Amino acid sequence: MNKKQSFIPALNYKWLTPLYDPLIAFTIRESTFKRHLVQQAAILDGHKVLDVGCGTATLTLLIKQTHTTANVVGIDADPDILDRARGKAKRSGLPILLDHGMSYQLPYADGTFDRVLSSLVFHHLTRERKVETLKEIHRVLRPEGELHIADWGKSSNRAMRAAFLLVQVLDGFETTTDNVNGLLPVLMEEAGFVGVEETKRFATVFGTLSLYRGRKNDEPRLLKDHKT
Ligand SMILES: C[S@@+](CC[C@H](N)C(=O)[O-])C[C@H]1O[C@@H](n2cnc3c(N)ncnc32)[C@H](O)[C@@H]1O
Repeated sequence: MNKKQSFIPALNYKWLTPLYDPLIAFTIRESTFKRHLVQQAAILDGHKVLDVGCGTATLTLLIKQTHTTANVVGIDADPDILDRARGKAKRSGLPILLDHGMSYQLPYADGTFDRVLSSLVFHHLTRERKVETLKEIHRVLRPEGELHIADWGKSSNRAMRAAFLLVQVLDGFETTTDNVNGLLPVLMEEAGFVGVEETKRFATVFGTLSLYRGRKNDEPRLLKDHKT
């Protein structure tokens, strides 16, 4: 079936992409939360690691820099941001692979990766795309492989909820509401992940950023709605 391949760019408008790296670095404690995400992924020597929605490849490069024996691949839907990522990778001298593709149609064989990481991508996806993406990630993970996500989560307090309205106005309410309602871990479980948990929360100027983890289970569960 041919589905329209659509995506929301890093800052919603492509002309804002050049501002992405400085904006994220200075506003949402990027270095801190990405280091935590990589640390919790517990990547081992020789692991194959995928960064879904890699953007400018800041996380992809951090993974390679801190785990030099890992095979690290980034994938993104936006060819323009991948050009920037390739420039950064070249300047860093770190050997990573950067692919063009959709999170909900990953161009990899079943069981390819030991770890999948993803940062600030799920709030760009509709509910349908979130579910499809989680199922695709589940498919490309090997048994016992792990998914580690950093994205906007349930607000810790009213101030955080108010701050998140800025993100919702920029990136759209349709794709961000599930995040702030705390639905990501529920959707992870429905896609078949086990041991799903929110591991950490960061207070930022744009709201509460959450880290999640889940492990591959070979038998995806039925959606909650269909349970007897
Ligand atoms: C906010 S940026 C995050 C980039 C990077 N992961 C980071 O943490 O800085 C979201 C990225 O997801 C990409 N993206 C959005 N929808 C996508 C999809 N369906 N498949 C793959 N990439 C997607 C966008 O092109 C953009 O680069």
